[in-house]
Amino acid sequence: MHWTAHAGTPLQGVLGIPGDKSVSHRSVMFAALADGISTIDGFLEGEDTRATAAIFECLGVRIETPSPSRRVVHGVGIDGLQPGAAPLDCGNAGTGMRLLAGLLAAQRFDSVLIGDASLSKRPMRRVTVPLAKMGARIDTEEGGTPPLRIHGGQPLVGIDHTLEVASAQVKSALLLAGLYAHGETVVREPHPTRDYTERMLSAFGVEIEFSPGFARLRGGQRLRATDVAVPADFSSAAFFLVAASIVPGSELRLRQVGLNPRRTGLLTALRMMGADITEERSGMHGGEPVADLRVRYAPLHGIEVPEALVPDMIDEFPALFIAAACAEGPTVVRGAAELRVKESDRLGVMAAGLRTLGLQVDETPDGATIHPGAMHGGQIASQHDHRIAMAFAVAAQRATGELLIRDVETVATSFPGFAELARAAGFGLV
Ligand code: S3P
Repeated sequence: MHWTAHAGTPLQGVLGIPGDKSVSHRSVMFAALADGISTIDGFLEGEDTRATAAIFECLGVRIETPSPSRRVVHGVGIDGLQPGAAPLDCGNAGTGMRLLAGLLAAQRFDSVLIGDASLSKRPMRRVTVPLAKMGARIDTEEGGTPPLRIHGGQPLVGIDHTLEVASAQVKSALLLAGLYAHGETVVREPHPTRDYTERMLSAFGVEIEFSPGFARLRGGQRLRATDVAVPADFSSAAFFLVAASIVPGSELRLRQVGLNPRRTGLLTALRMMGADITEERSGMHGGEPVADLRVRYAPLHGIEVPEALVPDMIDEFPALFIAAACAEGPTVVRGAAELRVKESDRLGVMAAGLRTLGLQVDETPDGATIHPGAMHGGQIASQHDHRIAMAFAVAAQRATGELLIRDVETVATSFPGFAELARAAGFGLV
């Protein structure tokens, strides 16, 4: 599937953004492990999160879908999962696979985790090595990539572990294994990452101590069913924040977007660049800060993105690159080597795409300098990466020619309905 994208009209309207991917994955996992029935509202109907729900069904959990974006999960209790009959398919989802690695390493049965072509290339030693320290036995392919062959029935012991890379997925895998381990599990991070696992385990009745960059829990605890309200995904909202900022005459309102401080680095970066974004109707939704975001066109200028912001905007660099391409003066990104091992090599793929449109981008191993300029049309290889595809649909709104964006089907992993919503707002997108 491809998109043909071109400049549309100024962007206008009030948009509802789908549920948060990180929160949706965790909600179904923790509800499955809980004692009792949990209801999830605002569940992301994306391929990634549906893959996670389907895996728990394979593991013997009854999950009902009374209406779209709602799940009723009949928890089986911490020891109630049953072996899956076949390999468990995580699709495109690194979050699904890495968190499940921790959880399934602690079960009494064996499991195999597989994924799509992109996930099958992603590094898994970052979870299997620390899990092995806890006593887990997980085999990967030679390069440390999936499939993961998990040997169950291993007694686990808690560890005190300092992560090498700031990763909420690795932290979460260790905490999930820690629920089953003997003694305490402590995870320390070089930079604080999103803390949904900690917050949500606490909401499910687990005693867990946490602060930015630190989490500690004791094994042997049970989860108590609870209802989860999933906020709108800031990472999906990001594409509209950038689009309205760069298309003259635009004004969008994005309804009740999740504003967890570990996710909103792009908001800070865009404001540093001169963006006009205000928060209205601020409140709390399912224990998370939310607000309507009103964004109006504003001339942007290039910045040096503070390295400390990188973990808080780790999924937003494709969108940031487009804002940078439309700014006055260069934008410099450093300390973002992790982008090379996301759904694609996002530094390389974004740089290549912008060069195709006529811009100069200087790449370094851990970043890039984007030199803005007029963008013409061209063919963009999204490398099957959802966020690359959406970023270039945004770029097209300022390009002088047409963009052919290839292989956009993965957009459905995180943002089903993106194209329809974008068109309704004024995007030129077919
Ligand atoms: C996620 C953590 C981040 C992020 C991913 C979702 C999570 O990955 O990029 O989209 O839900 O925990 P890393 O932990 O690999 O940085």
